[in-house]
Amino acid sequence: MSESSQKIKFYNGEDIPLELHKVRVVQKLHLVTIERRLEALRESGFNTFRLDTKDVFLDMLTDSGTNAMSDRQMGAMMMADDAYAGSQSFVRYQKAVEEVLGKKYLLPVHQGRAAENIISNAFVRKGSVVPMNYHFTTAMAHITQYGGRIEELLYDEAYVIRSQHPFKGNMNLEKLEACVKKHGPANIPFIRMEASTNLIGGQPFSIENLRGVRAIAEKYGIRLVLDASLLGENAWLVKQREEEFKEKSMAEIIKTMTGLADLVYFSARKLSSSRGGGICTNDEKTFKELEPLIPLFEGFLTYGGMSVREIEAIAVGLYETLDESMICQSPAFIEYLVNALDSKGIPVVTPPGVLGCHVDAMSICSHIPQKEYPAGAFAAAFYLISGVRGMERGSVSNQRDEYGNETYADMELLRLAIPRRVFTLSQIKYVEDRMTWLYDNRQLIGGLRFVYEPPVLRFFMGGLEPIDDWAEKLVEKFKQDFGDSL
Ligand SMILES: Cc1ncc(COP(=O)(O)O)c(C=O)c1O
Repeated sequence: MSESSQKIKFYNGEDIPLELHKVRVVQKLHLVTIERRLEALRESGFNTFRLDTKDVFLDMLTDSGTNAMSDRQMGAMMMADDAYAGSQSFVRYQKAVEEVLGKKYLLPVHQGRAAENIISNAFVRKGSVVPMNYHFTTAMAHITQYGGRIEELLYDEAYVIRSQHPFKGNMNLEKLEACVKKHGPANIPFIRMEASTNLIGGQPFSIENLRGVRAIAEKYGIRLVLDASLLGENAWLVKQREEEFKEKSMAEIIKTMTGLADLVYFSARKLSSSRGGGICTNDEKTFKELEPLIPLFEGFLTYGGMSVREIEAIAVGLYETLDESMICQSPAFIEYLVNALDSKGIPVVTPPGVLGCHVDAMSICSHIPQKEYPAGAFAAAFYLISGVRGMERGSVSNQRDEYGNETYADMELLRLAIPRRVFTLSQIKYVEDRMTWLYDNRQLIGGLRFVYEPPVLRFFMGGLEPIDDWAEKLVEKFKQDFGDSL
Protein backbone atom coordinates (compact mmCIF):
# COMPACT_ATOMS: atom_id res chain seq x y z
CA MET A 1 0.00 0.00 0.00
CA SER A 2 1.34 3.45 -0.79
CA GLU A 3 1.91 5.93 2.02
CA SER A 4 -0.15 9.05 2.41
CA SER A 5 1.09 12.20 4.15
CA GLN A 6 -2.33 12.60 5.74
CA LYS A 7 -1.71 9.52 7.88
CA ILE A 8 1.48 10.85 9.46
CA LYS A 9 0.75 12.29 12.91
CA PHE A 10 2.97 14.81 14.71
CA TYR A 11 3.90 14.16 18.37
CA ASN A 12 3.09 17.78 19.21
CA GLY A 13 -0.43 17.34 17.79
CA GLU A 14 0.03 19.92 15.02
CA ASP A 15 -1.73 19.27 11.74
CA ILE A 16 1.10 19.70 9.24
CA PRO A 17 1.04 18.28 5.71
CA LEU A 18 4.35 16.45 5.39
CA GLU A 19 6.00 16.36 1.99
CA LEU A 20 6.85 12.84 0.82
CA HIS A 21 9.20 13.99 -1.89
CA LYS A 22 12.49 15.83 -2.04
CA VAL A 23 13.39 18.72 -4.27
CA ARG A 24 16.20 17.96 -6.69
CA VAL A 25 15.89 20.72 -9.27
CA VAL A 26 15.05 24.28 -8.28
CA GLN A 27 14.19 27.55 -9.96
CA LYS A 28 15.21 30.84 -8.43
CA LEU A 29 12.39 33.26 -7.58
CA HIS A 30 12.39 37.04 -7.23
CA LEU A 31 10.19 39.32 -5.20
CA VAL A 32 10.19 42.72 -6.89
CA THR A 33 9.31 45.92 -5.00
CA ILE A 34 5.72 47.01 -4.50
CA GLU A 35 6.36 50.03 -6.77
CA ARG A 36 7.39 47.67 -9.58
CA ARG A 37 4.37 45.48 -8.87
CA LEU A 38 2.08 48.48 -9.29
CA GLU A 39 3.79 49.34 -12.58
CA ALA A 40 3.48 45.70 -13.70
CA LEU A 41 -0.24 45.75 -12.92
CA ARG A 42 -0.70 48.88 -15.00
CA GLU A 43 1.23 47.29 -17.90
CA SER A 44 -0.90 44.14 -17.68
CA GLY A 45 -4.26 45.92 -17.54
CA PHE A 46 -4.86 44.80 -13.93
CA ASN A 47 -5.25 41.29 -15.33
CA THR A 48 -3.03 38.71 -13.61
CA PHE A 49 -3.03 36.54 -16.76
CA ARG A 50 -1.02 39.23 -18.51
CA LEU A 51 1.71 39.57 -15.89
CA ASP A 52 5.23 38.49 -16.77
CA THR A 53 6.69 35.84 -14.47
CA LYS A 54 9.73 38.08 -13.91
CA ASP A 55 7.37 40.23 -11.82
CA VAL A 56 5.74 37.30 -10.00
CA PHE A 57 7.01 35.82 -6.74
CA LEU A 58 4.71 32.82 -6.16
CA ASP A 59 2.80 31.86 -9.27
CA MET A 60 -0.55 30.58 -8.10
CA LEU A 61 -2.35 31.40 -11.33
CA THR A 62 -3.06 27.78 -12.14
CA ASP A 63 -1.94 24.19 -11.74
CA SER A 64 -2.28 23.76 -15.48
CA GLY A 65 1.10 22.79 -16.88
CA THR A 66 2.80 23.84 -13.65
CA ASN A 67 2.73 20.71 -11.48
CA ALA A 68 6.26 19.52 -10.69
CA MET A 69 7.36 16.59 -12.82
CA SER A 70 8.90 13.51 -11.30
CA ASP A 71 12.37 12.14 -11.99
CA ARG A 72 10.69 9.19 -13.71
CA GLN A 73 8.79 11.49 -16.06
CA MET A 74 11.94 13.40 -16.93
CA GLY A 75 13.76 10.12 -17.49
CA ALA A 76 11.01 8.81 -19.76
CA MET A 77 11.20 12.00 -21.84
CA MET A 78 14.77 11.08 -22.76
CA MET A 79 13.65 7.66 -24.00
CA ALA A 80 10.99 8.96 -26.40
CA ASP A 81 10.57 7.47 -29.84
CA ASP A 82 10.68 10.26 -32.41
CA ALA A 83 8.35 9.41 -35.26
CA TYR A 84 5.56 11.16 -37.11
CA ALA A 85 3.54 7.96 -37.33
CA GLY A 86 3.47 4.79 -35.26
CA SER A 87 5.67 6.11 -32.44
CA GLN A 88 6.25 3.66 -29.58
CA SER A 89 5.78 6.59 -27.21
CA PHE A 90 2.15 6.67 -28.33
CA VAL A 91 1.87 2.91 -27.82
CA ARG A 92 3.04 3.44 -24.21
CA TYR A 93 0.49 6.25 -23.84
CA GLN A 94 -2.30 3.97 -25.12
CA LYS A 95 -1.24 1.25 -22.69
CA ALA A 96 -1.27 3.69 -19.74
CA VAL A 97 -4.73 4.94 -20.71
CA GLU A 98 -6.03 1.40 -20.95
CA GLU A 99 -4.46 0.33 -17.64
CA VAL A 100 -5.25 3.45 -15.61
CA LEU A 101 -8.43 4.80 -17.18
CA GLY A 102 -9.75 1.49 -18.50
CA LYS A 103 -10.36 2.77 -22.04
CA LYS A 104 -9.17 0.95 -25.14
CA TYR A 105 -9.38 3.64 -27.81
CA LEU A 106 -7.32 6.79 -27.45
CA LEU A 107 -7.23 9.97 -29.51
CA PRO A 108 -4.36 12.33 -28.68
CA VAL A 109 -4.96 16.10 -28.51
CA HIS A 110 -2.62 18.96 -27.69
CA GLN A 111 -4.55 20.06 -24.57
CA GLY A 112 -7.92 19.86 -22.84
CA ARG A 113 -9.74 22.51 -24.85
CA ALA A 114 -8.69 20.75 -28.06
CA ALA A 115 -10.63 17.72 -26.82
CA GLU A 116 -13.59 20.02 -26.13
CA ASN A 117 -13.34 21.36 -29.66
CA ILE A 118 -13.30 17.87 -31.20
CA ILE A 119 -16.21 16.61 -29.07
CA SER A 120 -18.30 19.75 -29.68
CA ASN A 121 -17.53 19.68 -33.39
CA ALA A 122 -18.70 16.07 -33.64
CA PHE A 123 -21.81 16.24 -31.49
CA VAL A 124 -23.06 19.80 -30.87
CA ARG A 125 -25.45 21.39 -33.35
CA LYS A 126 -27.46 24.62 -33.39
CA GLY A 127 -30.09 24.29 -30.66
CA SER A 128 -28.27 21.52 -28.75
CA VAL A 129 -28.43 21.65 -24.97
CA VAL A 130 -25.62 20.19 -22.89
CA PRO A 131 -26.48 19.58 -19.22
CA MET A 132 -23.53 19.57 -16.84
CA ASN A 133 -22.75 19.79 -13.16
CA TYR A 134 -21.02 23.14 -13.86
CA HIS A 135 -19.33 24.74 -16.82
CA PHE A 136 -15.65 25.20 -17.38
CA THR A 137 -14.78 28.31 -19.40
CA THR A 138 -13.30 26.54 -22.42
CA ALA A 139 -15.92 23.75 -22.44
CA MET A 140 -18.69 26.32 -22.53
CA ALA A 141 -16.95 28.44 -25.17
CA HIS A 142 -16.68 25.46 -27.54
CA ILE A 143 -20.26 24.33 -27.02
CA THR A 144 -21.58 27.83 -27.71
CA GLN A 145 -19.20 28.23 -30.64
CA TYR A 146 -20.94 25.28 -32.35
CA GLY A 147 -24.43 26.72 -31.68
CA GLY A 148 -25.31 24.88 -28.48
CA ARG A 149 -25.91 26.07 -24.96
CA ILE A 150 -25.30 24.68 -21.54
CA GLU A 151 -27.45 24.07 -18.45
CA GLU A 152 -25.75 23.91 -15.06
CA LEU A 153 -27.52 21.54 -12.73
CA LEU A 154 -25.85 21.62 -9.33
CA TYR A 155 -27.62 21.28 -5.99
CA ASP A 156 -28.12 24.61 -4.14
CA GLU A 157 -25.51 23.59 -1.55
CA ALA A 158 -22.80 23.94 -4.21
CA TYR A 159 -23.21 27.71 -4.12
CA VAL A 160 -22.87 27.94 -0.34
CA ILE A 161 -19.34 29.21 0.25
CA ARG A 162 -18.94 27.92 3.79
CA SER A 163 -20.34 24.42 3.79
CA GLN A 164 -19.56 20.98 5.11
CA HIS A 165 -21.07 19.19 2.13
CA PRO A 166 -18.46 16.65 0.98
CA PHE A 167 -19.62 16.55 -2.65
CA LYS A 168 -20.59 20.02 -3.85
CA GLY A 169 -19.84 18.97 -7.43
CA ASN A 170 -22.76 16.53 -7.50
CA MET A 171 -25.23 16.82 -10.37
CA ASN A 172 -28.80 17.53 -9.25
CA LEU A 173 -30.47 14.35 -10.51
CA GLU A 174 -34.03 15.68 -10.35
CA LYS A 175 -33.03 18.74 -12.36
CA LEU A 176 -31.15 16.56 -14.85
CA GLU A 177 -34.16 14.36 -15.52
CA ALA A 178 -36.42 17.43 -15.81
CA CYS A 179 -33.94 18.99 -18.26
CA VAL A 180 -33.90 15.84 -20.42
CA LYS A 181 -37.71 15.70 -20.47
CA LYS A 182 -37.97 19.40 -21.29
CA HIS A 183 -35.57 19.46 -24.23
CA GLY A 184 -35.90 15.84 -25.36
CA PRO A 185 -32.99 13.37 -25.62
CA ALA A 186 -32.60 14.10 -29.34
CA ASN A 187 -31.49 17.66 -28.52
CA ILE A 188 -29.02 16.57 -25.89
CA PRO A 189 -25.84 15.33 -27.57
CA PHE A 190 -24.21 14.47 -24.24
CA ILE A 191 -24.28 15.04 -20.51
CA ARG A 192 -21.01 16.47 -19.19
CA MET A 193 -19.69 15.67 -15.72
CA GLU A 194 -16.58 17.51 -14.59
CA ALA A 195 -14.36 15.89 -11.97
CA SER A 196 -13.37 18.22 -9.09
CA THR A 197 -15.62 20.95 -10.51
CA ASN A 198 -13.11 23.72 -11.16
CA LEU A 199 -15.11 26.96 -11.08
CA ILE A 200 -16.99 26.31 -7.84
CA GLY A 201 -13.79 25.80 -5.88
CA GLY A 202 -12.39 22.46 -7.02
CA GLN A 203 -15.27 20.51 -5.47
CA PRO A 204 -15.71 16.78 -6.19
CA PHE A 205 -18.71 14.64 -7.05
CA SER A 206 -19.40 11.28 -5.43
CA ILE A 207 -19.47 7.99 -7.26
CA GLU A 208 -22.99 7.47 -5.95
CA ASN A 209 -23.98 10.64 -7.79
CA LEU A 210 -22.12 9.63 -10.94
CA ARG A 211 -24.02 6.34 -10.89
CA GLY A 212 -27.26 8.33 -10.70
CA VAL A 213 -26.23 10.42 -13.70
CA ARG A 214 -25.30 7.24 -15.57
CA ALA A 215 -28.71 5.71 -14.86
CA ILE A 216 -30.48 8.76 -16.33
CA ALA A 217 -28.13 8.85 -19.33
CA GLU A 218 -28.84 5.19 -20.02
CA LYS A 219 -32.58 5.53 -19.50
CA TYR A 220 -32.76 8.20 -22.21
CA GLY A 221 -29.97 6.89 -24.43
CA ILE A 222 -27.72 9.92 -23.97
CA ARG A 223 -23.92 9.80 -24.02
CA LEU A 224 -22.15 10.54 -20.71
CA VAL A 225 -18.93 12.52 -21.13
CA LEU A 226 -16.49 12.84 -18.23
CA ASP A 227 -14.04 15.75 -18.07
CA ALA A 228 -11.26 13.94 -16.23
CA SER A 229 -8.75 16.80 -16.08
CA LEU A 230 -8.89 16.74 -12.27
CA LEU A 231 -9.85 13.10 -11.92
CA GLY A 232 -7.02 11.99 -9.62
CA GLU A 233 -7.93 14.57 -6.98
CA ASN A 234 -11.66 13.77 -7.25
CA ALA A 235 -10.80 10.10 -6.74
CA TRP A 236 -8.64 10.99 -3.74
CA LEU A 237 -11.54 12.91 -2.14
CA VAL A 238 -13.92 10.01 -2.89
CA LYS A 239 -11.54 7.82 -0.91
CA GLN A 240 -11.55 10.30 1.98
CA ARG A 241 -15.25 11.11 1.99
CA GLU A 242 -17.34 8.27 0.49
CA GLU A 243 -17.87 5.37 2.88
CA GLU A 244 -18.04 2.66 0.19
CA PHE A 245 -14.59 3.59 -1.17
CA LYS A 246 -12.57 4.12 2.03
CA GLU A 247 -10.69 0.86 1.65
CA LYS A 248 -10.47 0.87 -2.15
CA SER A 249 -7.27 1.66 -4.02
CA MET A 250 -6.91 4.74 -6.23
CA ALA A 251 -6.75 2.39 -9.22
CA GLU A 252 -10.13 0.88 -8.35
CA ILE A 253 -11.76 4.25 -7.66
CA ILE A 254 -10.48 5.81 -10.89
CA LYS A 255 -11.62 2.85 -12.98
CA THR A 256 -15.03 2.87 -11.30
CA MET A 257 -15.44 6.52 -12.29
CA THR A 258 -14.24 6.23 -15.86
CA GLY A 259 -16.21 2.99 -16.29
CA LEU A 260 -19.43 4.95 -15.81
CA ALA A 261 -18.66 7.33 -18.70
CA ASP A 262 -19.00 6.61 -22.42
CA LEU A 263 -16.36 9.14 -23.32
CA VAL A 264 -13.55 10.50 -21.15
CA TYR A 265 -11.43 13.52 -22.03
CA PHE A 266 -8.73 15.32 -20.15
CA SER A 267 -6.20 18.06 -20.06
CA ALA A 268 -2.97 16.21 -19.34
CA ARG A 269 -1.58 19.59 -18.25
CA LYS A 270 -3.55 19.00 -15.09
CA LEU A 271 -4.06 15.26 -14.89
CA SER A 272 -0.60 13.90 -15.35
CA SER A 273 1.97 16.14 -16.98
CA SER A 274 2.82 19.62 -18.15
CA ARG A 275 1.26 19.46 -21.61
CA GLY A 276 -1.09 17.49 -23.79
CA GLY A 277 -4.44 15.80 -23.53
CA GLY A 278 -6.57 12.93 -24.73
CA ILE A 279 -10.01 11.58 -25.52
CA CYS A 280 -10.72 7.93 -24.79
CA THR A 281 -13.59 5.48 -25.00
CA ASN A 282 -14.39 1.78 -25.24
CA ASP A 283 -16.98 2.40 -27.92
CA GLU A 284 -15.54 1.80 -31.38
CA LYS A 285 -18.36 3.67 -33.11
CA THR A 286 -17.77 6.84 -31.10
CA PHE A 287 -14.03 6.50 -31.66
CA LYS A 288 -14.57 6.23 -35.42
CA GLU A 289 -16.78 9.31 -35.41
CA LEU A 290 -14.12 11.42 -33.70
CA GLU A 291 -11.06 9.96 -35.39
CA PRO A 292 -11.11 11.99 -38.64
CA LEU A 293 -11.15 15.24 -36.69
CA ILE A 294 -7.75 14.59 -35.08
CA PRO A 295 -5.60 14.92 -38.24
CA LEU A 296 -7.74 17.90 -39.24
CA PHE A 297 -7.30 19.93 -36.03
CA GLU A 298 -4.47 18.35 -34.05
CA GLY A 299 -1.96 16.29 -36.02
CA PHE A 300 -1.42 12.68 -36.96
CA LEU A 301 -3.21 10.07 -34.85
CA THR A 302 -0.10 9.02 -32.95
CA TYR A 303 0.94 12.47 -31.71
CA GLY A 304 -2.09 14.81 -31.86
CA GLY A 305 -0.14 18.07 -31.66
CA MET A 306 2.18 16.91 -28.87
CA SER A 307 5.88 16.14 -28.91
CA VAL A 308 6.75 12.50 -28.24
CA ARG A 309 8.60 13.64 -25.11
CA GLU A 310 5.40 15.07 -23.71
CA ILE A 311 3.58 11.88 -24.57
CA GLU A 312 6.09 9.83 -22.55
CA ALA A 313 5.68 12.17 -19.56
CA ILE A 314 1.88 11.82 -19.73
CA ALA A 315 2.08 8.03 -19.79
CA VAL A 316 4.33 7.88 -16.72
CA GLY A 317 2.25 10.60 -15.02
CA LEU A 318 -0.93 8.56 -15.48
CA TYR A 319 0.54 5.70 -13.45
CA GLU A 320 1.74 8.20 -10.83
CA THR A 321 -1.83 9.45 -10.29
CA LEU A 322 -2.43 6.11 -8.61
CA ASP A 323 0.12 6.97 -5.92
CA GLU A 324 -1.72 8.44 -2.94
CA SER A 325 1.33 10.16 -1.50
CA MET A 326 1.70 12.07 -4.76
CA ILE A 327 -1.94 12.89 -5.47
CA CYS A 328 -2.74 14.06 -1.93
CA GLN A 329 0.13 16.56 -1.72
CA SER A 330 -1.69 19.48 -3.31
CA PRO A 331 -5.06 18.81 -1.55
CA ALA A 332 -3.21 18.56 1.78
CA PHE A 333 -1.50 21.96 1.29
CA ILE A 334 -4.82 23.44 0.15
CA GLU A 335 -6.52 22.11 3.26
CA TYR A 336 -3.77 23.63 5.40
CA LEU A 337 -4.19 27.09 3.82
CA VAL A 338 -8.00 26.95 3.79
CA ASN A 339 -8.11 25.99 7.48
CA ALA A 340 -5.57 28.67 8.40
CA LEU A 341 -7.55 31.43 6.65
CA ASP A 342 -10.90 30.09 7.82
CA SER A 343 -9.73 30.06 11.44
CA LYS A 344 -8.99 33.79 11.10
CA GLY A 345 -12.50 34.47 9.82
CA ILE A 346 -11.36 35.08 6.22
CA PRO A 347 -14.11 33.69 3.99
CA VAL A 348 -12.89 30.81 1.83
CA VAL A 349 -14.68 28.00 0.04
CA THR A 350 -15.13 25.01 2.33
CA PRO A 351 -14.80 22.13 2.63
CA PRO A 352 -11.27 22.43 1.20
CA GLY A 353 -11.32 21.23 -2.38
CA VAL A 354 -8.57 20.62 -4.89
CA LEU A 355 -6.59 22.73 -7.36
CA GLY A 356 -6.32 25.72 -5.01
CA CYS A 357 -7.60 27.77 -2.11
CA HIS A 358 -10.61 29.82 -3.19
CA VAL A 359 -11.11 33.11 -1.38
CA ASP A 360 -14.56 34.69 -1.38
CA ALA A 361 -14.03 38.12 -2.91
CA MET A 362 -17.79 38.75 -3.10
CA SER A 363 -18.08 39.01 0.67
CA ILE A 364 -14.60 40.43 1.37
CA CYS A 365 -15.23 43.20 -1.17
CA SER A 366 -18.96 43.56 -0.52
CA HIS A 367 -18.45 47.32 -0.97
CA ILE A 368 -17.58 46.70 -4.66
CA PRO A 369 -20.64 46.09 -6.90
CA GLN A 370 -20.44 43.05 -9.19
CA LYS A 371 -20.35 45.31 -12.24
CA GLU A 372 -16.96 46.54 -10.98
CA TYR A 373 -15.59 42.97 -10.76
CA PRO A 374 -14.79 42.37 -7.07
CA ALA A 375 -12.84 39.14 -7.75
CA GLY A 376 -10.75 40.81 -10.47
CA ALA A 377 -10.00 43.73 -8.16
CA PHE A 378 -9.16 41.41 -5.27
CA ALA A 379 -6.81 39.32 -7.44
CA ALA A 380 -5.00 42.50 -8.57
CA ALA A 381 -4.83 43.84 -4.99
CA PHE A 382 -3.43 40.57 -3.67
CA TYR A 383 -0.72 40.50 -6.31
CA LEU A 384 0.09 44.13 -5.54
CA ILE A 385 0.67 43.58 -1.83
CA SER A 386 2.32 40.14 -2.01
CA GLY A 387 3.76 39.40 -5.47
CA VAL A 388 1.56 36.29 -5.42
CA ARG A 389 -0.35 35.81 -8.65
CA GLY A 390 -3.79 34.23 -8.30
CA MET A 391 -6.60 34.01 -10.82
CA GLU A 392 -9.94 35.80 -10.97
CA ARG A 393 -12.78 33.27 -11.08
CA GLY A 394 -15.82 35.50 -11.14
CA SER A 395 -17.66 37.77 -13.57
CA VAL A 396 -14.57 38.70 -15.60
CA SER A 397 -14.28 34.96 -16.39
CA ASN A 398 -17.93 34.85 -17.48
CA GLN A 399 -18.90 35.40 -21.09
CA ARG A 400 -21.57 37.84 -22.26
CA ASP A 401 -24.94 36.36 -23.28
CA GLU A 402 -26.05 36.05 -26.91
CA TYR A 403 -27.35 39.66 -26.84
CA GLY A 404 -24.06 41.02 -25.54
CA ASN A 405 -25.27 41.59 -22.00
CA GLU A 406 -22.98 41.13 -19.05
CA THR A 407 -23.73 37.92 -17.11
CA TYR A 408 -22.70 37.93 -13.47
CA ALA A 409 -20.99 34.91 -11.94
CA ASP A 410 -22.62 32.92 -9.13
CA MET A 411 -19.45 33.37 -7.12
CA GLU A 412 -16.69 35.96 -7.13
CA LEU A 413 -13.58 34.01 -6.17
CA LEU A 414 -9.86 34.59 -6.07
CA ARG A 415 -8.27 31.24 -6.79
CA LEU A 416 -4.81 30.62 -5.37
CA ALA A 417 -3.75 27.48 -7.20
CA ILE A 418 -1.38 25.13 -5.42
CA PRO A 419 0.24 22.96 -8.08
CA ARG A 420 1.56 19.57 -6.99
CA ARG A 421 4.91 19.53 -5.20
CA VAL A 422 5.89 23.06 -6.23
CA PHE A 423 5.66 25.25 -3.10
CA THR A 424 7.05 24.87 0.40
CA LEU A 425 5.08 25.28 3.60
CA SER A 426 6.82 28.57 4.48
CA GLN A 427 5.67 29.96 1.13
CA ILE A 428 2.12 28.91 2.00
CA LYS A 429 2.54 30.65 5.37
CA TYR A 430 3.63 33.83 3.53
CA VAL A 431 0.41 33.66 1.48
CA GLU A 432 -1.58 33.29 4.69
CA ASP A 433 0.21 36.27 6.26
CA ARG A 434 -0.28 38.65 3.32
CA MET A 435 -3.89 37.54 2.85
CA THR A 436 -4.56 38.37 6.49
CA TRP A 437 -3.12 41.86 5.98
CA LEU A 438 -5.20 42.43 2.87
CA TYR A 439 -8.33 41.21 4.63
CA ASP A 440 -7.71 43.72 7.45
CA ASN A 441 -7.29 46.47 4.83
CA ARG A 442 -10.02 45.30 2.46
CA GLN A 443 -11.93 48.60 2.56
CA LEU A 444 -9.09 50.21 0.60
CA ILE A 445 -9.70 47.96 -2.44
CA GLY A 446 -11.83 49.52 -5.20
CA GLY A 447 -13.46 48.33 -8.41
CA LEU A 448 -12.26 47.83 -11.98
CA ARG A 449 -13.65 48.59 -15.42
CA PHE A 450 -12.78 47.15 -18.84
CA VAL A 451 -10.77 49.27 -21.22
CA TYR A 452 -10.23 46.42 -23.68
CA GLU A 453 -12.66 43.51 -23.87
CA PRO A 454 -11.96 40.66 -26.32
CA PRO A 455 -15.08 39.01 -27.77
CA VAL A 456 -14.19 35.44 -26.69
CA LEU A 457 -12.69 34.23 -23.37
CA ARG A 458 -12.17 37.86 -22.36
CA PHE A 459 -10.49 37.02 -19.07
CA PHE A 460 -7.33 35.81 -20.79
CA MET A 461 -6.25 38.98 -22.57
CA GLY A 462 -8.74 41.62 -21.41
CA GLY A 463 -7.44 44.95 -20.09
CA LEU A 464 -8.95 46.74 -17.09
CA GLU A 465 -8.24 49.84 -15.01
CA PRO A 466 -9.09 50.84 -11.45
CA ILE A 467 -12.09 53.14 -11.16
CA ASP A 468 -10.10 55.53 -8.92
CA ASP A 469 -6.70 55.70 -7.17
CA TRP A 470 -7.31 52.79 -4.77
CA ALA A 471 -4.18 50.91 -5.85
CA GLU A 472 -1.93 53.88 -4.92
CA LYS A 473 -3.66 54.11 -1.53
CA LEU A 474 -3.09 50.41 -0.93
CA VAL A 475 0.62 50.87 -1.69
CA GLU A 476 0.80 53.78 0.76
CA LYS A 477 -0.79 51.76 3.57
CA PHE A 478 1.43 48.75 2.84
CA LYS A 479 4.53 50.94 3.16
CA GLN A 480 3.30 52.41 6.42
CA ASP A 481 2.85 48.93 7.87
CA PHE A 482 5.80 47.07 6.34
CA GLY A 483 8.42 49.86 5.99
CA ASP A 484 11.31 48.64 3.87
CA SER A 485 10.01 45.09 3.53
CA LEU A 486 9.06 44.00 0.04
C1 LIG B 1 -11.85 21.01 -15.76
C2 LIG B 1 -11.08 21.50 -16.94
N1 LIG B 1 -11.44 21.14 -18.17
C3 LIG B 1 -10.77 21.55 -19.26
C4 LIG B 1 -9.68 22.38 -19.15
C5 LIG B 1 -8.98 22.88 -20.38
O1 LIG B 1 -7.73 22.31 -20.46
P1 LIG B 1 -6.49 23.03 -21.20
O2 LIG B 1 -6.11 24.21 -20.39
O3 LIG B 1 -5.43 21.98 -21.25
O4 LIG B 1 -6.96 23.42 -22.55
C6 LIG B 1 -9.26 22.79 -17.89
C7 LIG B 1 -8.11 23.68 -17.74
O5 LIG B 1 -7.83 24.25 -16.74
C8 LIG B 1 -9.99 22.34 -16.75
O6 LIG B 1 -9.65 22.72 -15.51
